[in-house]
Amino acid sequence: MELDIKGIVLKLWLLNALMINCISAAVPLRDHYQNLMGGQGLYNSSDDVVILNATNFKTNVYGSTRSWLVEFYNSWCGFCYRFAPTWKALASDILSWNDIVVVAAIDCADDDNNPICRDYEIMHYPMLKYFSVNAHPPSLGLVIEKGDNIDSVRHNLISRLETEQQEGRGSTWPNITPYRNVEITDIWRTTSNNVKYFFFIFENTDSNLGTEVILDLHRISSLQIRRVTSDNELLCVMNKVTKFPTLIAFGRNESQKIVNVRVSSRQGVRRAIKDYVIARGVNIDETIGTTISHDIAQNVESTHQTTSGAIVKSREEQEEEQRSLKKTDDYLYQLDLENALHYSMNNEISLTKSIDGEKMEALRKYIAVLAAYFPVRRSNTYLEVIRDVIKSRTTMTGEEFSQLAKTTEEEMSPVYWGLPHQWIGCKGSANSYRGYPCGLWTIFHMLTVNFALKSNKVPQTNFSQDPVAVLRAMHGYIETFFGCADCAAHFVEMAGKNKIFDTRSRDEAVLWLWRAHNEVNARLSGDATEDPEHKKIQYPAAEHCPACRFVNGSWNEEEVLQYLRIKYSYSNIKYDGISGYNSGFDSINSSNSWKIRLGRLAKEKHTTAFGWDLNIFDISICVVLYVTSAAILILVCIKFAVKRTKKKSHINLLPKV
Ligand SMILES: Cc1cc2nc3c(=O)[nH]c(=O)nc-3n(C[C@H](O)[C@H](O)[C@H](O)COP(=O)(O)OP(=O)(O)OC[C@H]3O[C@@H](n4cnc5c(N)ncnc54)[C@H](O)[C@@H]3O)c2cc1C
Ligand SMILES: *[C@@H]1O[C@H](CO)[C@@H](O)[C@H](O)[C@H]1NC(C)=O
Repeated sequence: MELDIKGIVLKLWLLNALMINCISAAVPLRDHYQNLMGGQGLYNSSDDVVILNATNFKTNVYGSTRSWLVEFYNSWCGFCYRFAPTWKALASDILSWNDIVVVAAIDCADDDNNPICRDYEIMHYPMLKYFSVNAHPPSLGLVIEKGDNIDSVRHNLISRLETEQQEGRGSTWPNITPYRNVEITDIWRTTSNNVKYFFFIFENTDSNLGTEVILDLHRISSLQIRRVTSDNELLCVMNKVTKFPTLIAFGRNESQKIVNVRVSSRQGVRRAIKDYVIARGVNIDETIGTTISHDIAQNVESTHQTTSGAIVKSREEQEEEQRSLKKTDDYLYQLDLENALHYSMNNEISLTKSIDGEKMEALRKYIAVLAAYFPVRRSNTYLEVIRDVIKSRTTMTGEEFSQLAKTTEEEMSPVYWGLPHQWIGCKGSANSYRGYPCGLWTIFHMLTVNFALKSNKVPQTNFSQDPVAVLRAMHGYIETFFGCADCAAHFVEMAGKNKIFDTRSRDEAVLWLWRAHNEVNARLSGDATEDPEHKKIQYPAAEHCPACRFVNGSWNEEEVLQYLRIKYSYSNIKYDGISGYNSGFDSINSSNSWKIRLGRLAKEKHTTAFGWDLNIFDISICVVLYVTSAAILILVCIKFAVKRTKKKSHINLLPKV
């Protein structure tokens, strides 16, 4: 009997070891941070946009026979998301120009691409840069304004191409500079023998139509097209041109003719040219023709189709979503805080080429506030070390900062609980939604709240006298480092309007940020960047805080403040998705360990109101674990007992040790 018990215990132990192995194998550990920063990015191989990455960026854009127009974007940036259809449409629209200029994109949210975006001084997204034919380092490309729509981007590109050619680059391109001669008698002398028809497009000096048509049709070798601008008055008068655009055709042995253009658009002129030569029996390569006539409208339409197509989901998918939705009920997750911090420290700040003056000041304030109030794993030594290193620095490069973050992280390892992992509360229903910006909001709410919860007793912070300390740090960070430039501009403008620096108390600062965030939510409600599964609401939702609104619908700010203090306090942080959480506690040493700080804080503050005293939480986990293992033990015992009575020989399934 004694031996039998030993055997059962041994089997149990082995079973247990097996189970643990299974569980740990099932925990998906993604070692690519990019997965949570937006994964595949905003473009794929079905788009006409050439996707660049760290491996192929330089080999493509440098020493190329073509010029490159590259969008540096960030898959979490709302403006980039909204701009992506325009970029795709442009790539399709000027696909036939791709022996002249290639439309490309690179995702700066991808960890691997990060150094490229830093080297090329990409400080906001999306940023368009033009690389000339045969460009070479150290050229960082020329910034091209993106404008509001496909036409404005294309026009900006055309201005660039025209300048390039005037400056002597692009000699193999079709001639897009205006025809300056005052007569057109000897055009055939310098024209290739293949050319059967020569066209002149007369247009206003500020028109882009001529260049567009020239580039659209430049692959048709039987045609040559030049543009004449209205300032070549003599030529206009001689050819009796009175309105713009006017199209004039020359055949080799024919007199010149004014070609009727029914619609004075790029498409209209293109059509008129083609019809004219086709009617005269000239063969134009229609395969190119079809590529060219890619209608912009069609492209936009097909984008819509895929979007709506993607909305049709299977029932399993919907159910899966329902489950994950429940998870994101209004909680604060450690993983979200850490993911956002990591991205900020290792990827975003580093994009600023050189940090000095006000930028340095902004960085110092940000890190100081984080060091004092951000709950990282091993107390906050990681952040404190970085804070102290940069205290004495007046200038440093973004690159140096990211190195500092990296090496400090290695030295202090483990700094984070859960990296690399997925977002939990900030998880979007698709890769392009939520993520980092959501995490950044979360960090700053958490900071304002815990700054307010910590009493002024805490001596080690030198900003205890400044109730705006956290908002000041946030303002500086967003203005200086936040990669979404338009967001930053909006935020700074709103901060001025709402008098951010007039905030009188720490509680008021919590409410200031809450109001500001709601203002942004209201503006973005219904926007293309809104995750359909996570609508931009006026926060908090009535279901989460019924007391937050008076009957007439207006805010009860006292209740709101209370709600925020509960949601964003350390003691309510959830550790979902962090597998080593329990055992991790053991590795924390010394008296200032985070757990103890948490515990102390929980006791100091009105934790009873939260009902989430950490110690009780701990105990309940122990109880659950205890009960579960007891249940398993009993079950296994019963099982073996039953088996034993059935077939004695089965006992020795496992070899004796
Ligand atoms: C400073 C800043 C400015 C931005 N400006 C723009 C912009 O101009 N244009 C643009 O397109 N995008 C902007 N963004 C991004 C945008 O606000 C969202 O972060 C992004 O669209 C992701 O939205 P989300 O659904 O994950 O929720 P988020 O708005 O990111 O919210 C994150 C979480 O915070 C909580 N929360 C929401 N509202 C409040 C509140 N009022 N008080 C406290 N907690 C709240 C919720 O739990 C929510 O899930 C900005 C982001 C930041 C950090
Ligand atoms: C970069 O893109 C090329 C071509 O798409 C691909 O073969 C390569 O694996 C990519 N490199 C990285 C690091 O993703």
